[in-house]
Amino acid sequence: MQILPDLDILAPVSSAPDARGIDQPHTVAAAPAASGEKRVLIETYGCQMNVADSELVASILGARGYGLTEDEADADVVLINTCAIREKAEDRVRGRLARFRAQKKDRLASGEGDLTIGVLGCMAERLRTKLLDQEKLVDLVVGPDAYRDLPRLLEETGETGQAAVNVQLSREETYADLTPVRYDTNGVSAFVSIMRGCDNMCAFCVVPFTRGRERSRPVTSILAECAQLVDAGYKEITVLGQNVNSYHDEASGASVSFAELLYRISRLSPELRVRYSTSHPKDCSDELLHVHREVANVCDFIHLPVQHGNTDVLRRMRRTYTREHYLDLIDRARAIVPGVTFSTDIIAGFCGETPEEHADTLSLMERVQYDHAFMFFYSERPDTFAARKYEDDVPEEVKKARLSQIIALQNSISAVKNDAMIGRREVVLVEGTSKRSDDQLKGRTDGNHMVVFDRARGLQKGDYAEVLITGSTSATLFGDVTRATTLEAANAASGEVVAI
Ligand code: 5AD
Ligand code: SF4
Repeated sequence: MQILPDLDILAPVSSAPDARGIDQPHTVAAAPAASGEKRVLIETYGCQMNVADSELVASILGARGYGLTEDEADADVVLINTCAIREKAEDRVRGRLARFRAQKKDRLASGEGDLTIGVLGCMAERLRTKLLDQEKLVDLVVGPDAYRDLPRLLEETGETGQAAVNVQLSREETYADLTPVRYDTNGVSAFVSIMRGCDNMCAFCVVPFTRGRERSRPVTSILAECAQLVDAGYKEITVLGQNVNSYHDEASGASVSFAELLYRISRLSPELRVRYSTSHPKDCSDELLHVHREVANVCDFIHLPVQHGNTDVLRRMRRTYTREHYLDLIDRARAIVPGVTFSTDIIAGFCGETPEEHADTLSLMERVQYDHAFMFFYSERPDTFAARKYEDDVPEEVKKARLSQIIALQNSISAVKNDAMIGRREVVLVEGTSKRSDDQLKGRTDGNHMVVFDRARGLQKGDYAEVLITGSTSATLFGDVTRATTLEAANAASGEVVAI
């Protein structure tokens, strides 16, 4: 699957090894709880998929009278939605659990009442015995397919004082009928989950074990959720799945491909930008590339994780494509979709990686010229093919040194590419105020570049503006607003097809 940014997989490249921010918590919750309600704090680690799951959890609990809080001191229940993708992510969650455990003890000792602590998501299945029996850190362990059971489990642990567990994975659950509670949103961009699980079994990846078999959500429920978002004023939807290219709506009997699904979402409004993540290179189809080319409001940006630049390593990783196949795909995409931008995921120091193999990753990056990259060093995960069959034999210092080289190269590529954008006019969707200053706004281009610019009169979050790019760093573009616009008008002016 592919993991996400300040939980934003779509964030620009950063020089930090955890560029996708998956090890930083995404804390939560704007909706105030009514008095008398039990208050839940949800802390989310990992990918955007986990953020989307926390929104489902908020919806399930909200329907049963639980309110949300972002204040630890105010919470009756703390739920940590966990990530198991790398060891570091797990370590952070354990640290948080120990802290909440100490709070629980203090509360009980001072007669302030209880604090129920739950672990949700990817760490649930693997660590349940440890967390429950050995470390006695939690009251509740709930896997990613068992969230509907949460209210019952909360009641059970409340009544019995015993830990409650459901880590059953499902072949069917897609939570299709639930409307996520978007409690931590800019009101402009939303994520919509279209499938769960993964059948790919990449040698390094724990996701197929933690999130189970791949299943697609029915197209009707996806379109209904997207239409609601459009009605609520959202202007950008990113559809999510571990491998969106293998989307197929089995439930409806209609054979709807991912390309067709994207097209249908794009038809909901000419003012809606549509993005997706993540695309596996092995089955990124020409049909999909033609949707990029022909449908103006499907953004011409593709997150296409390569993982490595050497064919032998790709084979050991069980990625099922070669360096040449990947490069052909990039060339084909560039030929079909003029101006398309790419981001990627790269792993340094996979089992058996030689200096020459590592050099192939660097040369592939030079050749592709990614706009952004999310870069990691290999971390062995239990149960995976790599853990069972290969030796994790690249020393940590070597992994880190190679990762630093990869990051330095990507930063220099991003700096040059961003610099080349100076003088261009880009259509930017305004997402809100810039972190740097209240006098500045920020927004993204179609190609997913973040742009910071001075506030222009009347311009608000959710508006589109044409911005002249005047400056850049490796991570950010700077510009001046030249005019407010609509997406439809901007696409018509650029000669892109608005409706087909
Ligand atoms: N070690 C390091 N990085 C990993 N990823 C997945 N599993 C591992 C691992 N064991 C990275 C891959 C994937 C991204 C989401 O996380 O690059 O695409
Ligand atoms: Fe992505 Fe491969 Fe992991 Fe599936 S197994 S989530 S395709 S990295």
